[in-house]
Order: sequence, then C-alpha cells, then structure tokens
Amino acid sequence: MRGGLSKEELMEDLARRVAECRRCPLFKHRRRVVVGEGNLNALVMFVGEAPGYYEDLKGRPFVGAAGRVLDRLLEEMGLRRREVYIGNVIKCRPPGNRDPREEEIEACSPYLDEQLEIIKPRVIVPLGRFSTRYVMTKFGLRPAPISRIHGRPYEASSPYGSVIVFPFYHPAVALYRKVMEEALFEDARRLRAVLSERGYI
Ligand code: URA
Repeated sequence: MRGGLSKEELMEDLARRVAECRRCPLFKHRRRVVVGEGNLNALVMFVGEAPGYYEDLKGRPFVGAAGRVLDRLLEEMGLRRREVYIGNVIKCRPPGNRDPREEEIEACSPYLDEQLEIIKPRVIVPLGRFSTRYVMTKFGLRPAPISRIHGRPYEASSPYGSVIVFPFYHPAVALYRKVMEEALFEDARRLRAVLSERGYI
C-alpha cells in the first residue's frame, strides 16, 4: 500500500480531506459529506452520482428511496451491501438534487479516482448517465448514451489489471417508470451472470 499505509488508513485520510473540502461551492449547502461505504476489498464497486436529501442528512450513500431500489437490485445480483463498495462521483448534495455541473465533477472526481485506486475493484458499476460518462472516459472507453450501453460488460485496463465496466440506469428511474424498473432488474440479472461466470459470486 502507498507509503506503507493500509487501505483503511488511506480511506480514513481521504475521508478527513473530503470532510473539509471546499474545492467547489457545494460545500456551502452540505450538512454531511458522503464519502462512500462498504468493503475496501470489494470486487464490485457501485458509483452513484451525488448524495440526495437523506444521504446528506446521514452521511451515507443510497439510504433514501433510490437506495431501497439499489438494495433490491443487489439482492437480484446475489450481492450484499457489506460485500461491495458504494460511492458517488460527487460527495456533497447539489441543492434541490439538481444535476451535477461539469466543474463540480471536475473538482470532486479526484476523490473517486483515489477510492478506485484504494479498492481496486474488478467490476465497476456506474449508476446513471453522469457516473457512466465519467467512468467510461476514465477507463478509455467511448462514452455513449446510457440507453445504448446499459446492461453490458465493457472490458478495460487499469493500472492494477483488467476491469469490467457495467453501466446501469440510475436506480431512481425505477421510482417513476415501471418499464425502467424492469430494465434495471434485467440488467441486474445480466450482471449476476457475468459475476458468476468469472467466479466472483
Ligand atoms: N443517488 C445517488 O446517485 N447517490 C446517492 O448516494 C443517493 C442517491
């Protein structure tokens, strides 16, 4: 590990810096930062967009209505929360849950990059179009509309070996549209098949 520090120490150091972060104006509105949580040795890492109301209140990712959808998706994939890592591209809630801005993604994404370097997941699941665009670009994959690329594995290389990027629609879409809920669960079953093929579950 970097500088002889353990994964836990590296993540604690990151969390301290995020808690004090003022790289973009979102710090003015936050109640709590949401660094992320889960298994630091996870094979599968989920990357959401940004905290919402309940995440900002509790300082934990996906604990509101979208989180309940994510929990059901995890079950469908044969995974448990404590086995995976869940983070976001943006660590502070955008006011009124508006979309993250380009400059906010630019300011905050180095923290996600650090998390990926610490955890070294084999499978990265970006949730929603902003995280999908960020993750695909980061791993040298061509970003495309999420409606075209969701639910499929994309092989990429990383400094620690090959990884799979498997884009999902954002779980919140299931709250408004039944057909999207069906698409999400179909993708969860496809991801489960990929994980099982590789012996990850
Ligand atoms: N939506 C996200 O993208 N991330 C969260 O943590 C919660 C809701």
